[in-house]
Amino acid sequence: GEGWDPGAVHGYPGELSAMLIPAQALQAKIGELARAVAADHTLESPPLLICVLKGAVIFVTDFARAMPIPSELEFMAVTSYGSATSSSGVVRILKDLDRDITGRRVVIVEDIIDSGLTLSWLVKNLATRGPAAIDVVALLRKPEAVKVDVDVRYVGFDIPTEFVVGYGLDYAERYRDLPFVGLLGEHMYR
Ligand code: XMP
Ligand code: MG
Repeated sequence: GEGWDPGAVHGYPGELSAMLIPAQALQAKIGELARAVAADHTLESPPLLICVLKGAVIFVTDFARAMPIPSELEFMAVTSYGSATSSSGVVRILKDLDRDITGRRVVIVEDIIDSGLTLSWLVKNLATRGPAAIDVVALLRKPEAVKVDVDVRYVGFDIPTEFVVGYGLDYAERYRDLPFVGLLGEHMYR
């Protein structure tokens, strides 16, 4: 209630306005997502997880460890021109995959889908490389995402249109280290 400060014990006193998804709820949902993705794959064709840096890095480590089947892990970093809190859909690759994905079943692991523009670009880009399948798992999804035609097969939580931080998500590179997802206090960015 009033007076409880979820960021305080992690060194961010007075910066968050609310807890949105507690650590325990995140872990429970990640277990469900991991089992759902695993059920759609076989041991003969293990998924190649493509973690989209940096936001999904915390999620992918818990996700991979919760999966009851093996997976392989690759990283890609993209940047979407725009402000600190919204994207434009004009995307540039900062770090590409280290490997060829031809014939592989890839699973793009995303932290959050907001406008969906970044993801839409990424799916098209990866599709040109000849993978056997492309699926998407996103921990969080905002309502705006319905406007973009990307099939996100696995979604953790649908959240309101508010700026969230924690569990990989940052504002100016801060808060990624929080074990939960919270709302950033408006006084921190307005
Ligand atoms: P689009 O709009 O392309 O944007 O789906 C996805 C990327 O935008 C960032 N994003 C956020 N980051 N809290 C954040 O820390 C948020 O509430 C938020 N909404 C969007 C994020 O980098 C994501 O990959
Ligand atoms: Mg960011």
